[in-house]
Amino acid sequence: MRYVVTGAAGFIGSHLSEALLAAGHEVVGLDCFTDYYDPALKEENARGLDVQRVDLAVDALDFSGFDGVFHLAGQPGVRSFGDVFPLYLRRNVLASQRVFEAAGRDGARVVFASSSSIYGATERYPTPEDAQPQPLSPYGITKLACEHLAGAYVREFGLDCVVLRFFNAFGPRQRPDMAFTRIVFALAEGGPFELYGDGSQSRSWTYVGDIVAATIAAMEHGSGTYNVGGALEASMIESIELLERISGRTLDVRRHPAVAGDQKRTKADTTRIRGELGWEPQVTLEEGLTRQWQWASDTLTSR
Ligand code: UGA
Repeated sequence: MRYVVTGAAGFIGSHLSEALLAAGHEVVGLDCFTDYYDPALKEENARGLDVQRVDLAVDALDFSGFDGVFHLAGQPGVRSFGDVFPLYLRRNVLASQRVFEAAGRDGARVVFASSSSIYGATERYPTPEDAQPQPLSPYGITKLACEHLAGAYVREFGLDCVVLRFFNAFGPRQRPDMAFTRIVFALAEGGPFELYGDGSQSRSWTYVGDIVAATIAAMEHGSGTYNVGGALEASMIESIELLERISGRTLDVRRHPAVAGDQKRTKADTTRIRGELGWEPQVTLEEGLTRQWQWASDTLTSR
């Protein structure tokens, strides 16, 4: 098959592109190498991939001849209040509207990467797909807006689109602003880790390889909206203890107040994706964190 992957130079996009190539598909990556984090890391992620520099918010988009578009590009990060909001509007809402418009016109199927952050202050745990969304962050609100845009294109223009709500992807190449990457590098380098809140906040951490498997399965035979969440919910404190055990080191934790936009808890109800796509998370938190720790150690050694 011929696929487009938007955000191919990002954390999940680069893993997905590699898996698609390994499965014998043709992949064209699109990425605009924004400076949300060091673009040199994205260059590194994109090594060996065909990634074109395209700004989805303005450049002409042509998906004719492609079987599907994996739309992963976006402005990430839940800590998104303040004057950064125009970036979230442009790189999430506007960019996605243009992707849906072009895919509908060109007859390409879309898998859209949404986020567990659309659930926000939900009180249903584990959280099923039909829970009332109550996003807490501007980021989550733009992701929910994108879901609604996709829905409008599905209903009004027959767009063929599957929505995936990823729950805290982790593993090698995780973004440098995310907790686990900060922790593994702090452990490896001996630096501090700034912990927001009391550490009791918990997540359905999901290994990136499992996210990739779910994303490909969704393109191949999914429909509607699916949660993609790891089997085990763990708090920040539990995750830090696990990483200390894996690394054999002690983390220098500096405590800070909780940050606006942060969810207290996420826990995915994955009944739907298990039943319809036969997807099960394969990599445990311990195994995935061991790989992320190894990646950080190798990265520092090769610098
Ligand atoms: C993450 C991603 O940033 C979003 O792009 C994604 O959509 C979302 O997961 C999701 O999967 O829905 P977040 O839960 O904030 O959002 O992930 P982390 O940055 O890994 O943070 C996890 C927890 O660690 C949060 O409670 C956060 O406050 C805390 N944290 C993070 C710290 O205590 N210190 C840090 O330096 C970073």
